[in-house]
Amino acid sequence: MLCTGTGCVAGGAFGIRECLEREIAKQGLQNEVSVVITGCNGFCGQGPLLVVEPDGIFYGFLRPEDIPFLVQEHFLKGRPVRRLMFVPPEKKEPTPLVQDIPFFKKQLLIVLRNKGIIDPEKIDDYIARDGYAALEKALRTMEPQRVIEEVIESGLRGRGGAGFPSGIKWRVCRGEKKTPKYIIGNCDEGDPGAYMDRSLFESDPHSAIEGMTIAAYAIGASHGYFYVRTEYPLAIRRMQIAISQARDYGLLGEDILGSSFDFDIEIREGSGAFVCGEETSLIHSIEGESPEPRQRPPFPAQVGVWGCPTVLNNVETLANVPVIINRGAGWFSNIGTETSKGTKIFSLVGKINNTGLIEVPMGITLREIIYEIGGGIPGDKKFKAVQTGGPSGGCIPYDLIDLPIDYESLTEAGSMMGSGGMIVLDEDTCVVDVAKYFVQFTNDESCGKCITCRDGSEALLEVLTRISDGEGQEGDVDFLEEFGIAIKDGSMCGLGTTLPNPVLSTIKYFREEYEAHIKEKRCPALVCKNLVKYYIVPEKCVGCLKCLKECPTQAIIGASKQIHIIEQPKCTKCGTCLDVCPVKVSAVIKVSGEEARNLKTLEKPVPVKDFRRAHEA
Ligand SMILES: Cc1cc2nc3c(=O)[nH]c(=O)nc-3n(C[C@H](O)[C@H](O)[C@H](O)COP(=O)(O)O)c2cc1C
Ligand code: SF4
Ligand code: SF4
Ligand code: SF4
Ligand code: FES
Repeated sequence: MLCTGTGCVAGGAFGIRECLEREIAKQGLQNEVSVVITGCNGFCGQGPLLVVEPDGIFYGFLRPEDIPFLVQEHFLKGRPVRRLMFVPPEKKEPTPLVQDIPFFKKQLLIVLRNKGIIDPEKIDDYIARDGYAALEKALRTMEPQRVIEEVIESGLRGRGGAGFPSGIKWRVCRGEKKTPKYIIGNCDEGDPGAYMDRSLFESDPHSAIEGMTIAAYAIGASHGYFYVRTEYPLAIRRMQIAISQARDYGLLGEDILGSSFDFDIEIREGSGAFVCGEETSLIHSIEGESPEPRQRPPFPAQVGVWGCPTVLNNVETLANVPVIINRGAGWFSNIGTETSKGTKIFSLVGKINNTGLIEVPMGITLREIIYEIGGGIPGDKKFKAVQTGGPSGGCIPYDLIDLPIDYESLTEAGSMMGSGGMIVLDEDTCVVDVAKYFVQFTNDESCGKCITCRDGSEALLEVLTRISDGEGQEGDVDFLEEFGIAIKDGSMCGLGTTLPNPVLSTIKYFREEYEAHIKEKRCPALVCKNLVKYYIVPEKCVGCLKCLKECPTQAIIGASKQIHIIEQPKCTKCGTCLDVCPVKVSAVIKVSGEEARNLKTLEKPVPVKDFRRAHEA
């Protein structure tokens, strides 16, 4: 099972596929071994990767040159290749079996039930794993209202951000008199670091088609749209193939499965603006209008695309539906917490050992995600915070690491579920810098309609930039808080009402870091360039010339066996000298605040021997 999700494809998965097929043929194994392409396996940080079945052996970081040996050893001689197996960060020995790898152990796969198992370009693979059984059950044995009740009873809530109960939305739409009705699957996914929906399309497009078709039957829609950003070419291609196969099998189109229910789906590509993911903006985009949000009510379930009642759901929400219909609302509602049922997919990225896509039951703690699934923080650094919910979310600090995750707990903590981005930050991350990054993003992406969002984000950005440049003033933090609340209150759509979250949550949990930037002109994480200095410790430097040769701005002076000096005005704080100075010497340090101001630098390079002698005397 060879992963051909976007991450692995970028790492050369299609080249690996060619090598595998060539070597398998060369060894005469083509009747015994077949290469099955799958969507994202989840463990993207290890890609390109494959799992050999039925043995269940996981191989990662594959290169074309590994393949002849792998084919000979494993497929011909039956000897799995240890050097290509996964080695957990804290261990020396590999973990051969996929089922024993901690990254996979604590996951619960409902939406991603077929990932890494089926070829997403073959409808038969999907059908072989109960695919379209739920659609058949719904069409043959359930009235549309019963489908809606089942979804309400299941407790399914929207996975696109706000967590609105899906069945209730469907009921409102069904109750509207106006026809035709529409359904839209939101696969815009503009949050930095998030790729859950893209992977769903790439690994199991039929689950979204089946979920949407059941929803369409429930609300009485005859036409559906998948709205996908154009930067997702592989996802779009796989969805096109899937739609066409579903039509060929009579699972889309007229009189589906002889039920007299007609429904078809088309793909609409968006041009990749974050605001296009907002439901009213997305509807405008489908209509060919400028994608600006509009006031609600009326909600899209009442007045949606082309002025008609429209259900708009995130595609992960839709992919839950076939399982709910197959296994029943009772089964689904047993998973999760009191208020949040089922699972959630997160893209676990940032300062984390095991980067990838995970699906976990609601109620799991951040500790389980970060330390058990994620394998902890690289280099044994300290966990500082996790940013959930993308630019609309906030940072959750170490103190809340045992927080069981659900919609309510994340909101109470000052963040939000969002669509599932989870960016882990370690001790080397500056929260002012993080807040600045997200506000810069929302400022760029604001549609400009509301002054609070358009100019307010600009004002927040100005103050944050000043603080990180070392020009923060007394009162700046209070201003950020007060202004952030005003932006929330005065903006029309979710982009504006949530854009202050990264600022407010970092102030809430890391106020002292803001104060350190302002009062002490110190960046505790040593990130903000204007507040840090690189310095060569004379007692340690051995005059090896390495830093001098690599410095891009010739800011370092010295000669062989002389103690080197950084000419501060020329230094652009690129950090190269710190990286290249030999670890056993570690003569280059990075400092900030008082420490940086008090550093005593030599006036000119001096021979190491003379310096040592003078200081030993
Ligand atoms: C600025 C902004 C961007 C959004 N982007 C997305 C997105 O990429 N995908 C998504 O499903 N929902 C997104 N949403 C939420 C949608 O407006 C909508 O609530 C959601 O798609 C409804 O589906 P659900 O009920 O299944 O969650 C966004 C909202 C805002 C305000
Ligand atoms: S809040 Fe921002 S993105 Fe939303 S409508 Fe207003 S200006 Fe546009
Ligand atoms: S930080 Fe970069 S620019 Fe500054 S001295 Fe070191 S290598 Fe040169
Ligand atoms: S790399 Fe380190 S030891 Fe070598 S000259 Fe530079 S500071 Fe000195
Ligand atoms: S893309 Fe291959 S594991 Fe995610």
